[in-house]
Amino acid sequence: MNVGDRHYRTIWLNEDGRSVDIIDQRWLPHDFRIETVGTVDGIATAIRDMWVRGAPLIGVTAAYGMALQTLDDPSDEALDAAWEKLHETRPTAINLRWALDEMRNLLRSLPNGERAKAAYKRAAEIADEDIELNRGIGRNGLEIIRAIAAKKKPGETVNILTHCNAGWLATVDYGTATAPIYLAAAEGIPVHVYVDETRPRNQGAQLTAWEMVGHGVPHTLIVDNAGGHLMQRGAVDMVIVGTDRTTADGDVCNKIGTYLKALAARDNDVPFYVALPSPTIDWTVGDGLKEIPIEERSGDEVSLVWGKTASGEIAQVRVSPEGTTAGNPAFDVTPARLVTGLITERGVAKASREGLRELFPERRG
Ligand code: MRU
Repeated sequence: MNVGDRHYRTIWLNEDGRSVDIIDQRWLPHDFRIETVGTVDGIATAIRDMWVRGAPLIGVTAAYGMALQTLDDPSDEALDAAWEKLHETRPTAINLRWALDEMRNLLRSLPNGERAKAAYKRAAEIADEDIELNRGIGRNGLEIIRAIAAKKKPGETVNILTHCNAGWLATVDYGTATAPIYLAAAEGIPVHVYVDETRPRNQGAQLTAWEMVGHGVPHTLIVDNAGGHLMQRGAVDMVIVGTDRTTADGDVCNKIGTYLKALAARDNDVPFYVALPSPTIDWTVGDGLKEIPIEERSGDEVSLVWGKTASGEIAQVRVSPEGTTAGNPAFDVTPARLVTGLITERGVAKASREGLRELFPERRG
């Protein structure tokens, strides 16, 4: 995405050839800060404390963490320790494990002396692949938006609701849920996006809205509880969200609150789509409710809200009384039966075991 007159990915290799530069998302939309991270511990902190976030970007960042490890100590034992350290940072997004496994499996097959070079090459490939996957999702999702636009009067707006940030900032570029929206806007389809603010960390208000401003896409920021009301009034044509892990049976785990949007969408006959690259499918898991670990984050994220004061300071304010305990489950599971379709790089799948295997026949058996 362009910021000012420069195109940025969310992560890239620093000019020293070993560290990575990342956009530190904690400060957006108020401040655009780039951080250089040059150790495995630093990468673990950046993922855990959400300097970077979003399932695909977490995976790419962790891949570079494994690459950094090979420079210090490329032995099997050291790689296993780095794998564990990075894996425990965020338990829900499956792209993290996918990328760590990709790296470890490749590196184990090589002599120690060849590991560093191969690690950086593979991490860069995973980043490039993410962009290609998102391009595919964009093309396939665009077909759906086109079909909705075709049923409307010429020039009538297609209203899309999204939750959290499954945009450029959650990936290396383009985003998953946003990729079809950006393509539709670019080809002149009048799209308008309802952006859920996405409490407690406000990824919608802070990140998705910022992306929409940058792309010039008309949008309206709404509180998380407004979606059902808007759907009842016919103001939403479709929902598109991302996912942190989708099971082989098509259950969708995504940012807390996604399930309620899916329920409201079903009750109001609004199509509910999930955009995902194939590394987000956990083929080892069927029942999302029983089998996906849900990250429980600090209650401080609920009690304390970040914002920019009138004097320009980026600061936290407390919104609940001292002494109140806050719970903070970060994700929920939307059962496959509530999902209209899974928009992948290969096409749009029915949210079911059969649907997914039709698109990914190599997973049969
Ligand atoms: O806690 P976050 O900000 O990492 O959660 C991100 C999401 O829930 C996204 O919707 C998901 O990772 C898909 S991103 C393409």
